[in-house]
Amino acid sequence: MKRVDDFRLKFGNKELVPLMIGGMGVDISTAELALEAARLGGVGHISDAMVQDVSDRRFDTDFVKEKTKFYKHNINNSDKSEVQFDMGRLAEATKLHVGRTMEAKRGDGLIFVNCMEKLTMNSPRDTLQVRLNSALDAGIDGITLSAGLHLGSFALMADHPRFRDAKLGIIVSSVRALQLFLRKTARLNRLPDFVVIEGPLAGGHLGFGMDWAQYDLATIVTEIAQFLKTEQLDIPLIAAGGIFTGSDATHFLELGAAGIQVATRFTVANECGLPDKVKQEYFKASEEDIVVNTLSPTGYPMRMLRNTPAIGAGIRPNCEAYGYLLDGNGGCAYINAYNAQIVIHPDGKNISVPDKTCLCTHMRNYNCWTCGSTTYRLKDTTRKQADGTYQTLSAEHIFKDYQFSADNQILLPA
Ligand SMILES: Cc1cc2nc3c(=O)[nH]c(=O)nc-3n(C[C@H](O)[C@H](O)[C@H](O)COP(=O)(O)O)c2cc1C
Repeated sequence: MKRVDDFRLKFGNKELVPLMIGGMGVDISTAELALEAARLGGVGHISDAMVQDVSDRRFDTDFVKEKTKFYKHNINNSDKSEVQFDMGRLAEATKLHVGRTMEAKRGDGLIFVNCMEKLTMNSPRDTLQVRLNSALDAGIDGITLSAGLHLGSFALMADHPRFRDAKLGIIVSSVRALQLFLRKTARLNRLPDFVVIEGPLAGGHLGFGMDWAQYDLATIVTEIAQFLKTEQLDIPLIAAGGIFTGSDATHFLELGAAGIQVATRFTVANECGLPDKVKQEYFKASEEDIVVNTLSPTGYPMRMLRNTPAIGAGIRPNCEAYGYLLDGNGGCAYINAYNAQIVIHPDGKNISVPDKTCLCTHMRNYNCWTCGSTTYRLKDTTRKQADGTYQTLSAEHIFKDYQFSADNQILLPA
């Protein structure tokens, strides 16, 4: 019976354990988690979501304080169009986050940064260009383009000296999205080095509509593999979403995937950025507690725990401090939803916003408990302790369980 370790993910002449830990913003997939994946010979991801805030927390910088101070006069104004990121500061924060992570890297694996296009930051093209190029400047091994079609993203990096040597890939959820991307980037004569195919069972935002349940990862992987074969393109495919055991992973590797990307199992790793209290919520969840809703202002459905504090919260939009989802004209679906409530409750007290959530603030405060569809199984991966809490696990334990287990077994911690 085969195991994940019987396969290797090949990037040129580099051979890796075919296991990627997916990017989880905001700082849920921490540098520590990514560094473990790299040390163990796989691929780890950091995320550049809300990178200025992440830098402040990691390195005691003052990016958020400075931006808030600069735009303080606008806090009570519902028009956020003037709230812009300073490109120099954005580059600085990205270089700190990425650069310090890369300096700490040990082992044969790689570290990539997950870069979501939907973080439009009130100036979509310019901010994305700075994020991508600063990550390359800071020595990142590769970039995973996510949460968007990224039709222009390769062009934004085309003049960077590392454009052809860094590993650049994209997350898609359909053959159509991949076709569009390849068509748009054809003139650059640079194929992606890998394609992550994310099915409907993943955590975070979904690349599907609310009819997500009608789709199935194995079918999409087969369709994309067939398309690449017809086009005579050789691009490693990485399957993601709902892969819970080493045997699930092996199944996809046998189906022709070059690697797998996983995340949910690592949300309860010691190295994961979620606070311990939240990790316990993930352990405790039952299948009915995991919902997909349209609360995210991005317009993508998102999977989360039903008892997520962010649901129904009515906080004032925090765009002067954050503003990562402002669309380029100062708009965000949460601001509209919030303002609609203010019309009904002009005193601004006890506001609850049922249809959208202030994702920046809630992700930043770990109050939006996004998760994969298999979260209810996490309790089966560990031991319950005398005080009723579940034991969190080392990333190494989870990684090696994927790498070496067979027969749908999950190794419990010592
Ligand atoms: C808590 C959490 C946060 C996530 N955040 C992001 C993100 O910021 N960007 C992204 O592209 N994918 C994100 N994802 C998706 C993962 O990177 C990964 O592709 C997917 O969850 C794999 O499926 P699994 O969780 O069933 O293993 C997130 C997943 C989880 C569980």
